[in-house]
Amino acid sequence: MDSKLILSIESSCDETSAAVVKDGREVLSNIIASQIETHKKYGGVVPEVASRMHIEVVNGVVLEALEEAGVTLNDIDAIGVTYGPGLVGALLVGLQYAKGLSYSLKKPLVGVNHIEGHICANYIEHKDLKPPFVSLVVSGGHTFIVHVKDYGKYDVIGQTRDDAAGEAYDKVARALGLGYPGGPKIDKLAKEGNENAIEFPKANFHDDTLDFSFSGVKSAVLNYLNKCKMQNIEVNKADVAASFQKAVIEVLKQNVLKTCRKKEIKKIAIAGGVASNSALRESLIKAAEKEGIEVLFPSQVLCTDNAAMIGSAAYFNFINGSEAKLDINAKPNLKL
Ligand code: KG4
Ligand code: ZN
Repeated sequence: MDSKLILSIESSCDETSAAVVKDGREVLSNIIASQIETHKKYGGVVPEVASRMHIEVVNGVVLEALEEAGVTLNDIDAIGVTYGPGLVGALLVGLQYAKGLSYSLKKPLVGVNHIEGHICANYIEHKDLKPPFVSLVVSGGHTFIVHVKDYGKYDVIGQTRDDAAGEAYDKVARALGLGYPGGPKIDKLAKEGNENAIEFPKANFHDDTLDFSFSGVKSAVLNYLNKCKMQNIEVNKADVAASFQKAVIEVLKQNVLKTCRKKEIKKIAIAGGVASNSALRESLIKAAEKEGIEVLFPSQVLCTDNAAMIGSAAYFNFINGSEAKLDINAKPNLKL
């Protein structure tokens, strides 16, 4: 089959990104304009501000992606774009831009599910990775265990019933006064703490499900901090960070390994912003090794939101015949 070049656009949250990806695995460019510095002031992403900032930069980001890849719009075979899940106003910016390009260039448009994009980041990092495998998608907005049966074929095995893992990290970090985004800050601080210092509740259910719940552990941390404040007890932030992290990681690890046993799969590909967490990586690799299970993860830049992962997902969808019509709309709650 001929080589295919995808121009991809991602704008579902607070990163405006465009990439040029060849055959789903080779990244020719991956430009990311992050709004983090702006949203930091508010302690989280402000949706209306995010939309406006996407509008300001999307054109420049796309032009830069083409230039860095050394290609022109004529060289592109299809345009891939995230159409959900995410913030509706933010999604619309990338989607409308992509539709405009598709219409004016008469090039096919491929809609991509953001979660699928996170999983596909692993195809870029690991050139030989092929389905089937189990993916643990842990980001600021989502927590899923997915059985990847084939390219584009997914079974969701477990998911969060309340907060996403990254959301819990961000909220706990905020309560500890560490700033936004909190995940990387807790990751770093936890290295200096004792993970057994405080017993926070494990974030799982007692029934048969492989679903998660993270609001309980988050509330337990907030209650603990309040109690310390009221009793004038000095908080050891590193111990809180390490103990919180342990409660979250234990259940992620336990449920993903259970899935592998159930499906008789020996490969886990983790994905999403929290997949760059060093404790999660180390702890999962160690536990999986004992069962002969391989753990893969993308490099840091491919873990957090970026358009290259969307370009990879778009490629596999495109060669399987998926093409969006121009009436495709943003779907903030799009399911995998
Ligand atoms: O995938 P992502 O960029 O955006 C969403 O699609 O949500 O993930 C962002 C999330 C944030 O909650 C951030 O705190 C978390 O990923 N994160 C981390 C780390 N790096 C980013 N969480 C824990 N440890 C990290 N090292
Ligand atoms: Zn994401």
